[in-house]
Amino acid sequence: MTKLSTKHLLGIKDINADDINLILNTAENFKEVINRPIKKVPSLRDTTIANLFFENSTRTKLSFELAEKRLSADVINFSSSTSSVKKGETLIDTVNNILAMKVDMVVMRHPNPGAAVFLSKHVDAKIINAGDGAHEHPTQALLDAYSIREKLGNIKKKRIAIIGDILHSRVALSNIFCLQKLGAEVMVCGPSTLMPKYISSLGVKVEHNLKKALEWCDVANMLRIQLERQDIKYFPSLREYTMLFGLNKELLDSLSKKIIIMHPGPINRGVEITSDVADSSQSIILEQVENGVAVRMAVLFLLAGRV
Ligand code: CP
Repeated sequence: MTKLSTKHLLGIKDINADDINLILNTAENFKEVINRPIKKVPSLRDTTIANLFFENSTRTKLSFELAEKRLSADVINFSSSTSSVKKGETLIDTVNNILAMKVDMVVMRHPNPGAAVFLSKHVDAKIINAGDGAHEHPTQALLDAYSIREKLGNIKKKRIAIIGDILHSRVALSNIFCLQKLGAEVMVCGPSTLMPKYISSLGVKVEHNLKKALEWCDVANMLRIQLERQDIKYFPSLREYTMLFGLNKELLDSLSKKIIIMHPGPINRGVEITSDVADSSQSIILEQVENGVAVRMAVLFLLAGRV
């Protein structure tokens, strides 16, 4: 298979295991490219890509921009905080004005779930979802899967625990879809108040005891408490959350086997993870970031249809 089954990348739910494996295999080639002395290839010359960020980002925004530049695309960047959105311009008007400048692909992060799907139905460009509210973050799940595969050789039958604020996490949802499609066993762990009501219907194990989750898994993906998305209090205090669900070195070293530690970032050091764990030899957090560029190059290249 050399082509994706989809025109857009709106979520992992919409794509199949062949699509995911094609992206991961293509990313392997691009990882080799970005480690060469000359890191650029002409694959997307004459393609114009707009990065539209309606919500803050460090990793995803810079990673997409770098991926686009490594592929020789022309790139324009839009940030809602400095745009005419502040004067009341709508999403569709904003994007159609940008597309009038002959843009081929749109990478969009937006605080509203479904924003990327909505856009794909109203504008004539290929859309990549760079995170839509608490819904999906497909390229994060793909780079996480790539990083696990790189470290463990295979994802099938591996045990992955996703730990923390599952309720507000687009990373959790996209990871669950992606890892299950690749044959992994997935567990979610956190306080019951931070679990979506529908979680069991996704076919994941649910655990509320951190030590048990860590003993079960090969990989622990630690998630941030998303205070900015919490309209009410879901636990008594951050201190109590950290005592029950924070990963520290003592706990990590007490486990019967060495597990891999992941985190999508940004990290709240000392809350969900201590610095000595985040910076330990078991952590692959910065490898995730490096792999993000290769994975996004693969997504852009395959969606552009230049195979
Ligand atoms: N992992 C992630 O999406 O980070 P940013 O919010 O910094 O893009």
